[in-house]
Amino acid sequence: MSAPLSFRTMSTKSTLFKFLPVLIANRRNLTKDVRIGFVGMVGRTPLIRLNKLSEDTGCDVMVKAEFASGGGSVKDRAALYLVKEAVDNGTLRKGGTVVEGTAGNTGIGIAHICNAMGFKSVFFLPNNQSQEKIDALTTLGAEVHQVPVVPWDDENNYNHQARRFAEERDNTIWTDQFDNRANRQAHIETTGPEIWQQTGGEVDAVVFATGTGGTLSGVSSYLKSVKPTVKAYVADPQGSVLYNYFTHGKLERTEGSSVAEGIGQGRLTNNLKGAPLDGALHILDVDAVNMTFRLLEEEGFFVGVSSGVNVSAAEQVAKMLGPGHTIVTCLCDGGQRYYNRVFSRSWLESKGLLGALSKSHLRFLH
Ligand SMILES: Cc1ncc(COP(=O)(O)O)c(C=O)c1O
Repeated sequence: MSAPLSFRTMSTKSTLFKFLPVLIANRRNLTKDVRIGFVGMVGRTPLIRLNKLSEDTGCDVMVKAEFASGGGSVKDRAALYLVKEAVDNGTLRKGGTVVEGTAGNTGIGIAHICNAMGFKSVFFLPNNQSQEKIDALTTLGAEVHQVPVVPWDDENNYNHQARRFAEERDNTIWTDQFDNRANRQAHIETTGPEIWQQTGGEVDAVVFATGTGGTLSGVSSYLKSVKPTVKAYVADPQGSVLYNYFTHGKLERTEGSSVAEGIGQGRLTNNLKGAPLDGALHILDVDAVNMTFRLLEEEGFFVGVSSGVNVSAAEQVAKMLGPGHTIVTCLCDGGQRYYNRVFSRSWLESKGLLGALSKSHLRFLH
């Protein structure tokens, strides 16, 4: 009986002889596709068509997979531009420190960038953010200050504490993500053009929830500059003022508060001011949470609740515009960051949101 054929019994000489010309040819045809360091891993995310939602609505509902950015969220782009601006204008020098007020994701992006560029990072967070994001920040070597939740006009708001901390130290900058337009610029120069190229210009509407407003205003500004008919909408969660502002012209909060982290606003940030918008959608937590589980069950994506807000809004826009349109939003970050929150039965129950889930979603809870 002859021995079974394996790589070991095959003659190296004859194998090489057979494959060498192919290897050489392949090598000649190779083009470089290398990301340069962590900074090269920021953005350039895939655009994905959500199959079930697209079939249901008759539209192409597309999402930018921002969880695939190096730091795991849509905020990497702003983080890079904020730090880069400070380096370029000389306010942040070798060995310096970056300070920011953050719900977590901007901080995670900045911490990665600071490590890669040799800076230190310090963050002030409202003390109601997920433990997973805080653990990520401390693992990245950042100094973390969790402070009580108070409104913007209170001097102890986490952003003002971050500003004061930076002002009191040498070679230390506060990146000011809410009002520093370098944030919006990141999306004018990256997210907007990526959507334009990836859709081949076939985009009819975009919709995004806002924290700072950088994503929404940057993407809408860019897309409207190349295709003025593109519609742009803000998706606003419970307890935020933007729905009322863009619908009735009044900075008044809608009822309740939201479990979605990183989004919702009490004021018009500098990054949102002047953003070309066509309207606002008010997204309830029950719908956002339900969509977060639909994304998991029907589309295969494990993401946070702000992504649920975005896709729930995209579904409404698809229904509003009717079949045949292309609507783009983003999946802001991954679900791992909220494993012990929205994916926990007891946590959901404590928020009165267990009823937001369909029966078949219950198997995803721990
Ligand atoms: C999870 C998440 N989604 C969405 C956003 C909103 O992005 P932007 O600040 O560009 O409005 C943020 C901002 O912090 C976030 O953390």
